[in-house]
Amino acid sequence: MSQRMTLITSPIFISETQLRNAGGFTSLFGNNNPLALEIGCGIGDFIVQIAARHPEKNFIAIDIFNQGCRQTCSRIDSSGLTNILMMRIEARYLMDQYLGEKSLQSIYINCPDPWPKKRQRKRRLLNQNFIDLSLYCLEDHGELNFCTDFTDYGESAAELLSCDDRLNNLLSTPYSHELGNYPISKYMQRFLDLDQPIFLCRYNKKSGLKIDPPKLNKGFRLRWGKGEN
Ligand SMILES: C[S@@+](CC[C@H](N)C(=O)[O-])C[C@H]1O[C@@H](n2cnc3c(N)ncnc32)[C@H](O)[C@@H]1O
Repeated sequence: MSQRMTLITSPIFISETQLRNAGGFTSLFGNNNPLALEIGCGIGDFIVQIAARHPEKNFIAIDIFNQGCRQTCSRIDSSGLTNILMMRIEARYLMDQYLGEKSLQSIYINCPDPWPKKRQRKRRLLNQNFIDLSLYCLEDHGELNFCTDFTDYGESAAELLSCDDRLNNLLSTPYSHELGNYPISKYMQRFLDLDQPIFLCRYNKKSGLKIDPPKLNKGFRLRWGKGEN
């Protein structure tokens, strides 16, 4: 699907070239604070809530759609928050090429594309290969947070996560419909308004593990050519 592209001039919108030239996020943020990543931030309502709660952390918001990036940047700019940077980039590519081992304290994935048809399920972001990549990128005790409104996706994600002995469950059940103080994204709110439950999974990485970088499976949208910014 081709996208309508709008030039994004916000200073917090970082191109791949800027990231490469800076040599990493520490120099872009100007400090060494712990780093959190939101994958598929949509229009940015989750990231501004979580970043406002945690001024002691740095946040990267990413999405592959230009219009979502534009709206997220405008939200972040009006929030006055200085601990968020935004990129239009594919998640696995960013994690594999630029983040790397033990670089992240938290990962957030909220209402990812559900790919509901059976033949499309292989396109889903959360699968064993993505969990392996997340475990490689998370520091000890780093969190993997995932939620979906889609029952089949919620159940299968919870099963994969709860069966992985490298992870601790931060909730008392493999998934929960109780959201506690977890910030609500636009899509979450949309489904809550329809009285549809959200499946929330919150896990963290056990300490002292040595995780090798996984070989990425050829995945949907994983191709990300030069000059895509
Ligand atoms: C259904 S929307 C949910 C948006 C937001 N998280 C929310 O809950 O309101 C999923 C978003 O994920 C983005 N996305 C899908 N696959 C992605 C990937 N591999 N890397 C980065 N963003 C992705 C899409 O562009 C879309 O904006």
